[in-house]
Amino acid sequence: MEISNEVNILAIETSCDDTAVAIVKVSRKKFEILSSVISSQIEIHKKWGGVYPTLAKREHENNLAPVLEQALKKARNPKIDLIAVTNGPGLEPCLWVGVNFAKALSRYWNLPIVPVNHIEAHILANLIDNNIKFPALALVVSGGHTQLILMKSIGKYRILGETRDDAAGECFDKVAKILGLGYPGGPIISSEAKKGKEGISLPRPMINQKNYDFSFSGLKTAVLYHSKKNKKTKQYISNMCKEVQQAVIDVLLKKTIIATRDYNVKTIILGGGVSANIELRKQFKKKFKNVLVPSKGLSTDNAVMIAIAGYYNKPRDWTRIKAYANLRI
Ligand code: KG4
Ligand code: ZN
Repeated sequence: MEISNEVNILAIETSCDDTAVAIVKVSRKKFEILSSVISSQIEIHKKWGGVYPTLAKREHENNLAPVLEQALKKARNPKIDLIAVTNGPGLEPCLWVGVNFAKALSRYWNLPIVPVNHIEAHILANLIDNNIKFPALALVVSGGHTQLILMKSIGKYRILGETRDDAAGECFDKVAKILGLGYPGGPIISSEAKKGKEGISLPRPMINQKNYDFSFSGLKTAVLYHSKKNKKTKQYISNMCKEVQQAVIDVLLKKTIIATRDYNVKTIILGGGVSANIELRKQFKKKFKNVLVPSKGLSTDNAVMIAIAGYYNKPRDWTRIKAYANLRI
C-alpha cells in the first residue's frame, strides 16, 4: 500500500558491512535520488576475508550519525516525511543499530517509520527507472542469498527456490580466499576472469535437477581440490576465475530459464551484489529481452533501494519494529 503521492523518504541500511543513508523524493511513483551516502567497511573486514559481525556493528555505530549528516547536507536538508529502515534479513547486531537509530529519529522528528525487507529492496531497486510487467521473476544473488522469487505484483512474492548451502556471492568470496585474491571476491574474480582462458572444467551443481534450488558449496570445494593439485600461477588463477564465474552463471541462467517458462513470466529482474557482475549481466541480457538489471551502484547494498521498498510498504508502530536475521520475503 502506498503512503501518499509526494514524499521525501529518509532510508537507512545497516544489514551487513555498508552503512548507508539515502534521501529519495517520490512523486507520482517517480523516484528521484536527492542523496545517497555509503560508508563501506571493506578495508576493515579485508583482513578477516569476510564480514566480522561485532566489528561491523561497531563501525555502523560509529558511522551512522556522520553518514546521516552527509546525506542531509547533500540533499540540502529537505523536509522528511517518512523513515524507512532495513529490519532483515542480515547480521542481527548490525540490523539493530539501524533499527534503533531509525526509531530514535522517528521519535525525535515525529515521523512514521517503515521496516523494509532487504531482499524485497534488492528487487524493487529496479523501479528507479523501470516498470515491471507481471508475473515477474526475480533472481536475487548476493553475499547472503540466492533466491528465485515469483512476483505476482509488488508485495506478492513466492520463493520458488533458493540455495541449499552457500550463496553465489559467498561462493565468489570463498573462492577468492582460496586463491589468495582478497575480499570481497566477486569484483576481483570478475576482473581476473577477463584475462582467463578456457581449459579448467568445474561442476555445475544441481543444473539438471528439476527444481529451482541451487548449491554452491561444492563448487568452492572443487576449486580447493583443483588448486591444491596445480601451481597457482597468474594464468592459472585467471583461468580458474573465468571457469568459476561461468559455472555460477550457467546454473543461475539455466534455473531462471526453466522458471520463466514454467510460470509464463513477463519480466525477469536481477538484484543483489552479484548482479553487478558484467559477464552475468551480458549473458542474461543476451538470453532474455525483458530483463531488468539495476545500475552497479544499486546492485550492491545501498539505501536508495530501502527508500523505494519503504514507499511500497506500510508504516508500523515503532514499538513493535524488531530486527530479524532470517526475515523471509
Ligand atoms: O548485495 P550485497 O552488496 O550484500 C549482501 O546483501 O550480501 O552483495 C555482496 C556480494 C559479495 O559476495 C560480493 O562478492 C558480490 O556481492 N559482488 C560481486 C560483484 N560485486 C559484488 N560478485 C560478482 N561480481 C561482481 N562484480
Ligand atoms: Zn544485499
